Amino acid sequence: MEVQEFEKELRKKTEQVEDVLKKYQPEETGLQHTVIEAMNYSLLAGGKRLRPILMQETFEMCGGKGEIVEPFLAAIEMIHTYSLVHDDLPAMDNDEYRRGRHTTWYVYGDAMGILAGDGLLNYAFETALRAFGMCSGDGELMQRVALALFTLARKAGIHGMIGGQAADIQAEGQEDPVTEEQLLFIHENKTAALIQASMMIGAILAGASEAEVRQIEKCAYNIGVAFQIQDDILDVVGDSRELGKPVGSDAQNHKQTYVTIKGLDTAREAVESLSGEAVEILEGFDGRHAFLEQLVLMLINRQK
Ligand code: IPE
Ligand code: IPE
Ligand code: MG
Ligand code: MG
Ligand code: MG
Repeated sequence: MEVQEFEKELRKKTEQVEDVLKKYQPEETGLQHTVIEAMNYSLLAGGKRLRPILMQETFEMCGGKGEIVEPFLAAIEMIHTYSLVHDDLPAMDNDEYRRGRHTTWYVYGDAMGILAGDGLLNYAFETALRAFGMCSGDGELMQRVALALFTLARKAGIHGMIGGQAADIQAEGQEDPVTEEQLLFIHENKTAALIQASMMIGAILAGASEAEVRQIEKCAYNIGVAFQIQDDILDVVGDSRELGKPVGSDAQNHKQTYVTIKGLDTAREAVESLSGEAVEILEGFDGRHAFLEQLVLMLINRQK
């Protein structure tokens, strides 16, 4: 696929995700309208929409058809957005910019920032649960939806994203150098887990076999760890305007990253080799995956 064609496809797919998000966004009414405004402020601020796109593409690669995946596309972006809203709080990374605008806590205050994150997490599950209403009594499809929900809950929780964020914050206060093992644990959980959830849910809803879902989990692990290493690289050499968030946040928080431990060159090599391994796994699938492959390769050199 030519670069231009890929970029056009990517824009189209991003717009499709935006449409799904608008369809499922909560309505800003009632006495609690401020917290809902804060939720939508962060959710609809843009962002690459990488996780829903990965979910949709994996769904299609595994032969999935129909709209059963839609509520999950919205749900994964809501959970990812909540993780960012909380990650930016003064008690965590203390950042003032995200997705090209002021962070949620900066605009709405800390308390509303916490509640908006909580709200997005709950609303994500409320949204994903709607998939049951789309099963038309098909028992096998309902089982897939149940497994997809379990995967979402697990990978977002203490054995996934929250676990990784907790280890990340604890490592900030650590005097000893962070070990490679520790860093991998942090990357696998804080970042790869939601990417794994995205791709695994796509595969599960499409009816992929257990063995296929395990392959997808491995593939997404590689993509996720590479993605976080690149994020750490961009925190050092990126452009804040292009990124839509500050650079130098990690240094300010005295955070040890793959870059501080191994240096920029080794970090870049790691991004490349992990992405290569991800692509190799994708090539083992029969379904159409040219776009997915190119997306993984594009992430190696991403500037935002
Ligand atoms: C940022 O994720 C947080 C990390 C896991 C590194 P993204 O880089 O996907 O952020 P958005 O969604 O595009 O804003
Ligand atoms: C956070 O990693 C990953 C999350 C689970 C939110 P970072 O703290 O490096 O993410 P950015 O750089 O603020 O987006
Ligand atoms: Mg952080
Ligand atoms: Mg951060
Ligand atoms: Mg970062």
